[in-house]
Amino acid sequence: MCGIVGYIGHQKATPILIEGLKRLEYRGYDSAGIALVEKEGLIHEKAAGKVKTLEELLINKTFASHIGIAHTRWATHGVPSDLNAHPQVDHTGNIAVVHNGIIENYRTLKEVLERKGYNVISDTDTEIIAHLISMYYEGCLTEAVRMALSQVEGTYAIAVIDSRSPEKVVAARNGAPLLIGQGEGENFVASDVAAILRYTNKVVYIEDKEIATITANDFRISTIEKIDITHKVEEVGWTLEMIEKAGHEYFMHKEIHEQPETLRNAMRGRLNLEEGTVRLNGLTDHLDDLSKIKRIIIIACGTSWHAALIGEYLLEEYAKIPVEVEYASEFRYRSPIIDEGTLVLVISQSGETADTLAAMREAQRRGAKGLGIVNVVGSTIARESDGGVYIHAGPEIGVASTKAFTSQIMVLSLITILLGRMRNISYNMGKEMIEALQSLPEKIQTILDNEEQIKGIAETYYKHNNFLYLGRGVNFPVALEGALKLKEISYIHAEGYPAAEMKHGPIALIYENMPVVVIATRDSIYDKVMSNIAQVKARNGNVIAIATEGDTEIAERVNHVIYIPKIKQCFTPLLAVIPLQLMAYHMAVLRECNVDQPRNLAKSVTVE
Ligand code: AGP
Ligand code: GLU
Repeated sequence: MCGIVGYIGHQKATPILIEGLKRLEYRGYDSAGIALVEKEGLIHEKAAGKVKTLEELLINKTFASHIGIAHTRWATHGVPSDLNAHPQVDHTGNIAVVHNGIIENYRTLKEVLERKGYNVISDTDTEIIAHLISMYYEGCLTEAVRMALSQVEGTYAIAVIDSRSPEKVVAARNGAPLLIGQGEGENFVASDVAAILRYTNKVVYIEDKEIATITANDFRISTIEKIDITHKVEEVGWTLEMIEKAGHEYFMHKEIHEQPETLRNAMRGRLNLEEGTVRLNGLTDHLDDLSKIKRIIIIACGTSWHAALIGEYLLEEYAKIPVEVEYASEFRYRSPIIDEGTLVLVISQSGETADTLAAMREAQRRGAKGLGIVNVVGSTIARESDGGVYIHAGPEIGVASTKAFTSQIMVLSLITILLGRMRNISYNMGKEMIEALQSLPEKIQTILDNEEQIKGIAETYYKHNNFLYLGRGVNFPVALEGALKLKEISYIHAEGYPAAEMKHGPIALIYENMPVVVIATRDSIYDKVMSNIAQVKARNGNVIAIATEGDTEIAERVNHVIYIPKIKQCFTPLLAVIPLQLMAYHMAVLRECNVDQPRNLAKSVTVE
């Protein structure tokens, strides 16, 4: 859920750990802490609040240590407080543990430990791990960790140090991401490559139920059952510049503006205009199966789920395959019917979302092929899926997803063309769709160039506490996404609705001047949407319309119009969502919210 970084090597550990924490802070951020092995033994410093608070705590202290672990916490057990912050330390004060995830049987373990005389002082589940390791310690930290983890149920990525063995960091994972970064005369451990990218792009992904013993010059990995494992060292394609703000005030702003480029990247090398189709390397091994599928289930959470809904429209319309879209968290606890002709598509920016991962595993257990649409290369979903397509959006740091959303829709569009061309769409239609996709980056740029007008609208409405977002057909999910963006980062209550459903309930909410955002592009249901707009206006609501360039008629019927270029109807979401992202962003800035790190949220939700 949050961040782990550990270091051992020829440099001083503290600055590397603090920098790593700052780069991880977007993942979870209610407390931070650090543990080091100094001459006098283990020391740890931790504080509720941002990494900056921890940094201030350390300002007048000098540390010589070349080994350490650090953590940013997203509390699951116990409030964010200094005591509950990680590292958690055992009663001897020798062992320090940082942990991402949840120990599900911690109450039982706590009772056992307390009966043995251990004094558990924090409210966290993590502290239990520190005491268990201590209990099993007989001179070898790796073995003690192994024994402790054999007692633990739940999800974890942990890093552990012990002042009695200052030459190693021990790390382990089960269900939460963790990797080793390989340097020269130094090694790293991190939950996210962003933390260590400044020093190395060579990584080794630790798998579930594996323990790594990391020294300055080497690392060894074995399973909890003590079987030695060798993983290959992989090179990560991300650069440091890609995870920096490049002059933007917030990452979210940078990421919104990157969309012309990220969409180009999602298409690069994949379009085959001559044959009116696309080429997706991650699916080439599955073409035979794909030609036979009878039904698709798309599984995702949050924004990725909204992209899935758009995928449903596209795939049903053009590939003529029945599609069901499921919340991952619901899917995994139902008894989903998966027969031979069912394909499961899993969408996840991070590739680490616990609900989505568990749902994919459940589908695979039931015999389905699980294909992933993922951003983070090497993430768990990317590795465990049977195949899939990377969206290549580059690192998305802002907690509110923007560029990943449009790239997910792009990849769903490409899959639609691929499946459509294998079934019923003509060469001409395939070509027309590809050309429409190719025109997107430029069209998005014209919307981004209109940011001042959108900011002006944000200035008019940012003090309102309620917003309604309406859209129909393929733009209904865009309404959902617009509302989600606004509530996530500005804390304004917002609801997304199919425009025609408004009269069945939400219309009761409309009060004088209430802002209602309507996606009213010139398409086959334009007239119907205009009727919905009239219903809002009749109740004195204020309508902000997202309309097609050249539609002068609408300007007379609404309070504000934001124009977007004309595009093939099925691809309008890729344009219509851009002004909604910008509007949410500017309202959040005007309300002085921390756009990149909204309260209570974390970038990748690796707990249930
Ligand atoms: C989006 O703005 C969110 N913060 C959130 O809904 C997110 O889309 C969801 O948690 C799924 O994440 P994933 O795509 O990394 O699986
Ligand atoms: N469950 C642990 C806690 O609440 C770790 C949470 C996290 O992943 O940050 O302290």
